[in-house]
Amino acid sequence: MKIKIAPSILAADFTRLGEQIREAEANGADLIHIDVMDGRFVPNISFGHLIVEAARRVTQLPLDVHLMIVEPEHHIEVMANAGANAISVHVEACSHLHRILQQIKQHGLKAGAAVNPHTPAVMIQEVLPLLDEIIVMTVNPGAGGQDFLPEVMPKLRQIRRMAGSIDILVDGGIDADTIGIVVENGANVMVAGSSVFGANGGIGAGIRAMRGVLENKSAG
Ligand code: DX5
Ligand code: ZN
Repeated sequence: MKIKIAPSILAADFTRLGEQIREAEANGADLIHIDVMDGRFVPNISFGHLIVEAARRVTQLPLDVHLMIVEPEHHIEVMANAGANAISVHVEACSHLHRILQQIKQHGLKAGAAVNPHTPAVMIQEVLPLLDEIIVMTVNPGAGGQDFLPEVMPKLRQIRRMAGSIDILVDGGIDADTIGIVVENGANVMVAGSSVFGANGGIGAGIRAMRGVLENKSAG
């Protein structure tokens, strides 16, 4: 499978958001990951649909919206209207996961489910036919810059076996050191915040560092 890189703008410099999204696109990002946090499902509050709308104005890349919020059903329409291409909701935040995935698809968007580190793979089994993507959290959601949790790898392998060829995103602590192990375990979309927007050599260097590891692997 083609490995895609999805920079997470949570780690961007918000005073230069448009410029940084354009830079990510120019340096080969495949999609833009947008982390919406409500201060309830996760402790922090990040931003909402106005940032999705702003991102929509500066890039052609698909916008992948990750809702870390309670009652996400109230926010699907506004996110769709703001220009989201895909919306993922947390399994742990949805009493009616099946219904909300249908709701997302009714807006013509890709629908995804995100699973926290403690959530077993079986929690998405019955909705697999509705899923276009799965976000396997490799940190506890709520903040950028946390350490990657290697103990999630057996579940990632299991989800890849269950899910066939649909996109599996890994989210949290993905960088040049951890990209190898997540790809080996079946992930094909790398969500990366700090390692892209916080890279020493800039956004392009952050993306190239990860791609470089993959190229060396396939060459070796
Ligand atoms: C975590 C968010 C992530 C976050 C990843 O709650 O869902 O998308 O931005 O950040 P890094 O790559 O810095 O771990
Ligand atoms: Zn995310």
